[in-house]
Amino acid sequence: MTQPCDMLVFGGTGDLALHKLLPALYHLHRDGRLHPQLRILAIARNPLDVQQYRALAERHCRAQVARADFTNEAWAGFAARLDYFVMDVSQSADFGRLARHLGPGEDRGRVYYLAIAPRLFEDIARHLQIAGLAGPQARIVLEKPIGHSLESALAINAAIGAVFDERQVFRIDHYLGKETVQNLMALRFANALFEPVWRAGHIDHVQISVCETLGVENRGSYYDHAGAMRDMVQNHLLQLLCLVAMEAPVRFDADAVRTEKVKILEALKPISGLDVQDKTVRGQYGAGKIGGQEVPAYYFEKNVDNDSDTETFVAVQAEIDNWRWAGVPFYLRTGKRLARKYSEIVIQFKPVPHRLFNGGEANRLLIRLQPEERISLQLMAKNPGKGMRLEPVELDLNLAQAFSQRRWDAYERLLLDVIEGDSTLFMRRDEVEAAWRWVDPILEGWHEYYQSPRSYPAGSTGPEQAHSLLELQGREWND
Ligand code: BG6
Repeated sequence: MTQPCDMLVFGGTGDLALHKLLPALYHLHRDGRLHPQLRILAIARNPLDVQQYRALAERHCRAQVARADFTNEAWAGFAARLDYFVMDVSQSADFGRLARHLGPGEDRGRVYYLAIAPRLFEDIARHLQIAGLAGPQARIVLEKPIGHSLESALAINAAIGAVFDERQVFRIDHYLGKETVQNLMALRFANALFEPVWRAGHIDHVQISVCETLGVENRGSYYDHAGAMRDMVQNHLLQLLCLVAMEAPVRFDADAVRTEKVKILEALKPISGLDVQDKTVRGQYGAGKIGGQEVPAYYFEKNVDNDSDTETFVAVQAEIDNWRWAGVPFYLRTGKRLARKYSEIVIQFKPVPHRLFNGGEANRLLIRLQPEERISLQLMAKNPGKGMRLEPVELDLNLAQAFSQRRWDAYERLLLDVIEGDSTLFMRRDEVEAAWRWVDPILEGWHEYYQSPRSYPAGSTGPEQAHSLLELQGREWND
């Protein structure tokens, strides 16, 4: 059971709040994990009254929560916690009204969840301070992307840092809340088996793929200014890379874990200027078919420019310049409107040093994050019968079967961590900045050398050039 606190969700009528945050809070409520006096205050400009907002929230929660988990009784209890407040975050006076609405309660924890555009972060932090709402008990949650470049990220971090201590700031990356992502740390740091071979001498390369079938849905106006590099690579993919590559932290606590991740981000070899042509591929989906359904080209999506050159696909060959990883390529790939939705990490080991048998492949460890939660190790085995005919077989661990309980959504875990003040699974200020420091030169290189996106049909595995990136080095994606 958590502390009594007020959870204020700015952007209360937005997609994130309605699709992710409220269903996650509903689950936490239903499982008895929220303090009875925890209140949720959704904030937005839409002129709704509390009953109308509760009805809107109920509609969305019913759609998101599994039927068996949604009961009228649990909903009634949850709805009683739910309040709605209409305000304009650019108006300082509205924060005075907000303070009066909240009433006294400096001793109560206050969580401000900014599920809105990053350009508003600065104003909100300043107004909260002026209204006396930014005391030491307060916590602020910032949704990614933090800025759209290093410069804007520095400005946001500085503005937030002028009001809140770093320990009060929670920069969320929902990938860190996923069970299998945390399992990656368990796999590496709770099993002695892999550590001796988890390095350049034994690993040929690493692949990290986050493939989606969805397009930009109704987020066109945000996405068209962001693109896949800012939306996915700068945060989710680099976080996964850090977890694969980092050294074991001395303790499992926020500072020790994040310090090791920052070291990896700082060791990423810069990709700039003409290098972007050899080491990166940008793509944009054209019209095609997904699951038998025709889908339009990206530039025909709602709120997207007709001649947009925003990338909806990125592949990058990254390298980490440190003792453990020197010379090992980390291939990152993400895209929208691809053939299948899945996220996986592939650790491709080197072949045996001296081959005794004809044929045979090198070992490969596959960590599937979604849709299934699976870890499988490909080993070579002898095919029964005469002669030494080798075939790859899988040692397969299905985590959903190994642990049958309901899987928490990433936001459930992370919201509870915020309420409890545990920032281990959140990004520290220097981490976000180090990630931008690597991403910025790639974006600049694309701009400088006019690298327009390569087209790929919706429902495919991405542009040809993403395949050539590996093929030219005698490798291939694990498709
Ligand atoms: C979000 C991105 O952070 O992650 C979206 O903004 C993307 O564009 C989503 O679709 C993917 O998350 P998940 O959990 O579905 O893999």
